Amino acid sequence: MYSQAAMMLDRILRLLAAYNIVTCSSETDDEGKLLTWHYGPAPVCKWLTKNEEGVSMASLVLMNQDKVLMESWYHLKDAVLDGGIPFNKAYGVTPFEYFGKDARCNQLFNEGMKSQTVIITKKLIEFYPGFDDVNILVDVGGGTGATLGIITSSYNHIKGVEHVGGDMLEEVPTGDAILIKCTLHDWSDEHCMTILKNCYRALPDNAKVIIVERILPVNPSAAPESQGVFDVDLVMLLQTPGGKQRTQNEFEALSKEAGFSSLKATHVFANTWAIELKK
Ligand SMILES: C[S@@+](CC[C@H](N)C(=O)[O-])C[C@H]1O[C@@H](n2cnc3c(N)ncnc32)[C@H](O)[C@@H]1O
Repeated sequence: MYSQAAMMLDRILRLLAAYNIVTCSSETDDEGKLLTWHYGPAPVCKWLTKNEEGVSMASLVLMNQDKVLMESWYHLKDAVLDGGIPFNKAYGVTPFEYFGKDARCNQLFNEGMKSQTVIITKKLIEFYPGFDDVNILVDVGGGTGATLGIITSSYNHIKGVEHVGGDMLEEVPTGDAILIKCTLHDWSDEHCMTILKNCYRALPDNAKVIIVERILPVNPSAAPESQGVFDVDLVMLLQTPGGKQRTQNEFEALSKEAGFSSLKATHVFANTWAIELKK
């Protein structure tokens, strides 16, 4: 190994300690001369190391910090000045088109999505009671199927329907509930209206849509649960055609216009909510 590696690693760890990612204490000799530093995991490391399901939030961090996605930031100023989507300005295609042609990025995206969904869906099952009366659950924009897999293995009576290969902007499958998790934030209000109207059309009377999304606070604050949502909101600005995080009022307006009669939001985890729309 490179002779200066330990010193370099020390400097990296000291920065991480300054942000409370790791703990740090120094060891001195009897004269007070510094001998070494000792590092350990700070509480946030619980989320950055694999849990009993073999996933952690580190995959999502690695996805968002990947050089392909980071490139979008360099096009943000031009998008503010001239319009357009920063990611598309960088690569000439949308992220989903790009992932379709780049196996490494696709794997990174799927791993990031799967990891967060395993963690959040466990909390969804713990705190959202609305799956008891569902028999057929359609997962629109379900990705690798991890979300549905967790729900159907916890609720054996539920038959899960993946919406794979279909276009939710055209049509969605029928069921007695439609789950749409971390997907509406990829789309503009106009797109969301089309998707929600397609859901409304596909559902029988008294059925429901369960949107699982972060809800944007009206006023930003320096608390991590607020910072996290505004952070994802910027990622949506960088990479999607009009996608954004939404306030509860914005979800209410969309659901009303799509025809739904009521909205009830249940907090699940870290500002992620189950937003139930009744037909
Ligand atoms: C941000 S991911 C969310 C995945 C998953 N629901 C989760 O929470 O982990 C958005 C998903 O929407 C899918 N998607 C994108 N455009 C779509 C379309 N037009 N119709 C259906 N699904 C689409 C993507 O393939 C991706 O799996």
